[in-house]
Amino acid sequence: MGKELNYTLITGGSRGIGNALAWECASRGMNLLLVSKQAEGLNSAVQSLRDEFKVDIKSFLVDLRDLDAPQKVVNWCSENGYRVDILINNAGVAGTADFSKSPLSYSDERIMVNIRSLVLLTRLFLPELQSHSKAHILNMGSLSAYYPLPFKSVYGASKAFVVSFSRAINEELRGGTVQITVINPNGVRTNPDTFKRINTHSRILKFLFIMDAGDIARIAIDKMLKGKLVVVPGFMNRFLILISRFIPSRIKEKLIAHIFGKEVLY
Ligand SMILES: NC(=O)c1ccc[n+]([C@@H]2O[C@H](COP(=O)([O-])OP(=O)(O)OC[C@H]3O[C@@H](n4cnc5c(N)ncnc54)[C@H](OP(=O)(O)O)[C@@H]3O)[C@@H](O)[C@H]2O)c1
Repeated sequence: MGKELNYTLITGGSRGIGNALAWECASRGMNLLLVSKQAEGLNSAVQSLRDEFKVDIKSFLVDLRDLDAPQKVVNWCSENGYRVDILINNAGVAGTADFSKSPLSYSDERIMVNIRSLVLLTRLFLPELQSHSKAHILNMGSLSAYYPLPFKSVYGASKAFVVSFSRAINEELRGGTVQITVINPNGVRTNPDTFKRINTHSRILKFLFIMDAGDIARIAIDKMLKGKLVVVPGFMNRFLILISRFIPSRIKEKLIAHIFGKEVLY
């Protein structure tokens, strides 16, 4: 049995926004449990964090596409006595594809990681989170949640699900000790694929709407600790949501198809 410390569990903590969240949390003295699927990236992420911070850091390799993955994560924590008071459901898979040409595995991966694992981890960790006098769940949504996204159809819908789910359980849990936050960033330069896709857009779009992972992480943890339910980082992104309410859906969808059509990988 490990010592009964409190931990922040981050799915997809090995790279991208999840890794930036890990650095942000460690800099605030939080102990970390990092979960992702590739050993090399996860081990080097843990090592860099240990070199920099004095917090306790443990890691667990699991593929969140697997049916039993959420249960394995919870078992790992309970068997080792890791007490989770912050659950960050960050792992997610994006990408751009023509739905009619994409393989079944493409949609399946987005459903399993972005939706299923997030829901089941939330459900499985709730009793543990509710046993703390104060606890948080931070779910990673996206600005994609606000629009049907041609060429990112399953991804956009998965993020709309995350926002709807987060708002609904927030209401169910109102008055309890667990607070829910969902953060909806626009584009963030993280992995090489995201870099490539973002770089297909004009300089002005990139300048106005794209943010750094470190800024997203700082905003996310600040707002989560303040108990804010829905967070959209960046003034221009909030403005975009506001003005797009006045544009008819058919026009919005054509415009989005034009923008993301340029990114299609297959
Ligand atoms: N980047 C953006 O522009 C952007 C914008 C809005 C929202 N988001 C959301 O932010 C989150 C992180 O995005 P990101 O761009 O930082 O992604 P990323 O750089 O691709 O990193 C994804 C992380 O999730 C983990 N992961 C992916 N599939 C997994 C699986 N099957 N099992 C276990 N772990 C898995 C990866 O671990 P491995 O390295 O081990 O595979 C990695 O740590 C996602 O939910 C994404 O939808 C991103």
